Amino acid sequence: MTPPHITDLPIRALTVDDLHRCADLSEDRGWLREDHKWGLLLAAGNGYGVDAPDGRGLAAACVVTRYGSTSAGPGLAAIGMVLVADRYARQGLGRALMTHVCDNTLKGVPLTLHATPYGRPLYEELGFKTTGRAEMLVGSFQEEATSGPHAAVRVRRAVAEDLPRILHLDAEVFGADRTHMITRLPAFSDQLVVAEDSSGGTLTGYAAAWPNMHTHVIGPLIARDTATAKALVTTLAGGTDRPLRTDVDVRHGELLAWLKERGLESVAFNAVMTRDIPDLPGDWTRRWAPLTVAAG
Ligand SMILES: CC(C)(COP(=O)(O)OP(=O)(O)OC[C@H]1O[C@@H](n2cnc3c(N)ncnc32)[C@H](O)[C@@H]1OP(=O)(O)O)[C@@H](O)C(=O)NCCC(=O)NCCS
Repeated sequence: MTPPHITDLPIRALTVDDLHRCADLSEDRGWLREDHKWGLLLAAGNGYGVDAPDGRGLAAACVVTRYGSTSAGPGLAAIGMVLVADRYARQGLGRALMTHVCDNTLKGVPLTLHATPYGRPLYEELGFKTTGRAEMLVGSFQEEATSGPHAAVRVRRAVAEDLPRILHLDAEVFGADRTHMITRLPAFSDQLVVAEDSSGGTLTGYAAAWPNMHTHVIGPLIARDTATAKALVTTLAGGTDRPLRTDVDVRHGELLAWLKERGLESVAFNAVMTRDIPDLPGDWTRRWAPLTVAAG
């Protein structure tokens, strides 16, 4: 009997029990294992995958994180970690998995993703359009010798009482309700900080730094203005000895220039793509970096 073609194999839901198989797949494609990130995405989102017919783990995987509607937006689902094992590449498996997820599982739901140059042609065929770009920066942050205006911004560690205000600000700026993701941040991240106006009453921003292999990733980074964004980054950088990574919307040129002056280097650009929605909801002027490019 002829074995089924790779694209005829069943697509199944992935759970946290698949975490090591997912990390193995990342490694197979030359990505970092990123177990901590996979753990978050499999817990807060929905993973989909295809078991390798040779019995060696997964042949393909991706993760979907769904966000609810708010007054600022109609709801959204973010797709990430789209991976096909090297030995099964270019056989239609990536297309089959993405078609299943986008056209069956998520039919009619506005979608977004950050695309690498490898994934972009496939996403364009599936109806995604590029609406923006994010620049990935990595490096050791050097503190400023002379402090700028952002030194006056009040930044402190978040406490439990801040959570409702963080969720409120996040929904307004992100344009969709991501309570199930943001409430995981106190456990998932190593640092969660907030910025307040001088009266101490209004939250003007918040940011997290979470551990990913050898770096701390800064994201989400939500801030009223550039000074607030810089103050949040400076505080987070002061709390780690690791290099930082962050993925900044290219429209935020002033922050990007400042991060490069502080020692971070440009590593890559990812295309921000959407489908069934002309642009991302919310307020991009206050959204500086995603929690992770895999989940928006
Ligand atoms: C991107 C990826 C998921 C595609 O999966 P795949 O099963 O190899 O792709 P398919 O065989 O279904 O091909 C779909 C289309 O993707 C594009 N594509 C796939 N591999 C490509 C490559 N090496 N170079 C350029 N385009 C490629 C082509 O447009 C292809 O259509 P075609 O075969 O008619 O030319 C896979 O190459 C991969 O895991 N890459 C590394 C991880 C990555 O970059 N993921 C994307 C994150 S956004």
